[in-house]
Amino acid sequence: MPGVDIQNISFSYDGCSRVLEKIDLHIDEGEFVCILGQSGCGKSTLLRLIAGLEKCSSGQIIVDGKAIEGAGLERGVVFQDYGLFPWMTAGANIVLALKKKFPALSKTELKDRTLELLKSVGLDESVYNKYPRELSGGMKQRCAIAIAFGIDPPILLMDEPFGALDAVTRSMLQDMVSGLWREQIQRKTIFFVTHDVDEALLLANRIIVLGQSPSSVICDLRIPEDKRVSRDRYFEDAEVLKLRNDLIRYIHADIRRHVKEM
Ligand SMILES: Nc1ncnc2c1ncn2[C@@H]1O[C@H](COP(=O)(O)OP(=O)(O)O)[C@@H](O)[C@H]1O
Ligand SMILES: [Mg+2]
Repeated sequence: MPGVDIQNISFSYDGCSRVLEKIDLHIDEGEFVCILGQSGCGKSTLLRLIAGLEKCSSGQIIVDGKAIEGAGLERGVVFQDYGLFPWMTAGANIVLALKKKFPALSKTELKDRTLELLKSVGLDESVYNKYPRELSGGMKQRCAIAIAFGIDPPILLMDEPFGALDAVTRSMLQDMVSGLWREQIQRKTIFFVTHDVDEALLLANRIIVLGQSPSSVICDLRIPEDKRVSRDRYFEDAEVLKLRNDLIRYIHADIRRHVKEM
């Protein structure tokens, strides 16, 4: 599975001031990277560059030895708005995505695989025939994750996928994504954008904090496997609380510096 080499990239939208400034990162295959930062700092932009939906103004992003040019099947994307076609049932949405990736599968195989995927994200068979409008936000996001893991790209890009969900649904889906990632023999490389420090600490084994625009990396933190805490112990673990406070301090200090410079 490929890692991702982000080589000194900078980016501005056409005619606008710089959003990202000299971001240089090597991400190993199988890392779960949370990109953390204040709203507007450029997290989605960085994700869109990795997805190939925007082109770097300078620098390049290397995946599997090649500079990326546009979107690619090895990079799947999950957005906050679920990405399901509203005129198709949840089942048909998943079947369509699987068919594109695995054209050789028969109709029955596609349906069987879709039902398995629904189960793997905690949804029952009845969801197969429901339209997105009949599903809650959490259920729609489960379908989107079923598609992402069903297509099985080695690199998964997620942009605040749980931002619109209530706290309980959100924590269930965090645990689900973490579980799906952990149980894989060859883990996916995941880029997960969030502005929520707790979400990052619960999910990531690497946290990259972006500063204010034009943003660069202000903190690159690895969380060793033996330092990870479960949700139950999160607020009792002194080391994690220290990390949490440090991260919040970095972000606040950067915002204060930015305000002073303005
Ligand atoms: N399509 C666009 N055209 C021009 N500016 C944009 C566009 N998308 C985002 N921006 C600007 O780029 C900056 C970073 O945006 P974004 O990457 O969406 O931040 P984040 O995801 O961290 O909230 C913001 O100042 C935003 O207004
Ligand atoms: Mg964003």
